[in-house]
Amino acid sequence: MKQYLDVTDIENLPKLIDEAIALKKNPFAFETLGKHKTIGLLFFNSSLRTRLSTQKAAMQLGMHCMVMNFTSEAWTIEFEDGTVMDGGTSEHIKEAAAVVSQYCDIIAVRAFPTLTDKEKDQSEFVLNNFKKYASVPIINMESATAHPLQALADAITIMELKQTQKPKVVLSWAPHPKALPHAVANSFTKMMQKMDVDFVITHPEGYELDPEVTKKTPIMHNQKEAFKDADFIYVKNWSNFKDYGKVLNQDKSWTITNEQMSVTNNGKFMHCLPVRRNMIVADEVLDSEQSIVIQQANNRTFSAQVVLKNILEELE
Ligand code: CP
Repeated sequence: MKQYLDVTDIENLPKLIDEAIALKKNPFAFETLGKHKTIGLLFFNSSLRTRLSTQKAAMQLGMHCMVMNFTSEAWTIEFEDGTVMDGGTSEHIKEAAAVVSQYCDIIAVRAFPTLTDKEKDQSEFVLNNFKKYASVPIINMESATAHPLQALADAITIMELKQTQKPKVVLSWAPHPKALPHAVANSFTKMMQKMDVDFVITHPEGYELDPEVTKKTPIMHNQKEAFKDADFIYVKNWSNFKDYGKVLNQDKSWTITNEQMSVTNNGKFMHCLPVRRNMIVADEVLDSEQSIVIQQANNRTFSAQVVLKNILEELE
């Protein structure tokens, strides 16, 4: 693996998942692979799981890890070419990415969308500028349109816990007070399209994700109908894609309660976290045996570790 910007960078998913599960059983099996190698984790947005699990993954491979919060610690970065930098930006991405590449063998970046400028977000201007101007591999720790480390952790979790050869997996929209990105839903959808699962998306009318992502995945507007006999219920809010970044609906009838879960096949509840209780999901579901969100978050370490391992092996 030369980079991990999107789930499309995965060449052999079953092999990668098997490798991640083996690393989970023996996390220090490759503890010298990253010796004398450094990863830089660059955050333009907040994080709990991504920051700590990626650090832990790097440490378990013997890497050094440097973390920088770009919103409060670094110089403000200019991403446009040819700009007269007489405003709020102090350093151009050309220099910043080139300099960080001298300190780090791998650079990981988190940069959320603006949710106001669709064209800019869809172009992945932060991630792609790092890719363009860095001379080392780049890992996406959640960008404007993708969260591939989360999607790989989700795939590992489903493979570990599935009870049937081809489980039914439902991605459901749920209400949220703020405008949220599409990245988690996009990457989960792309990942499920690569897996041997019966995959359905359900959301209120008008909340269609990018059709270039959903492709031929069945979409249902009746949540309860979609949940029937499901083995895994993956819940996430996303803001409107067509009326870009708008919150047009906070319909609490889409909040996941025991009533929705009752029509599933004793389905497992999944969410990438952080989650707003009694908005996205009722306490009764999140605190139940059906919730696997903590196991899912644990797998973030092994999704990051397997990606780092594969990139380190290419560096050698
Ligand atoms: N799921 C996830 O990416 O969590 P953080 O935002 O806390 O990193």
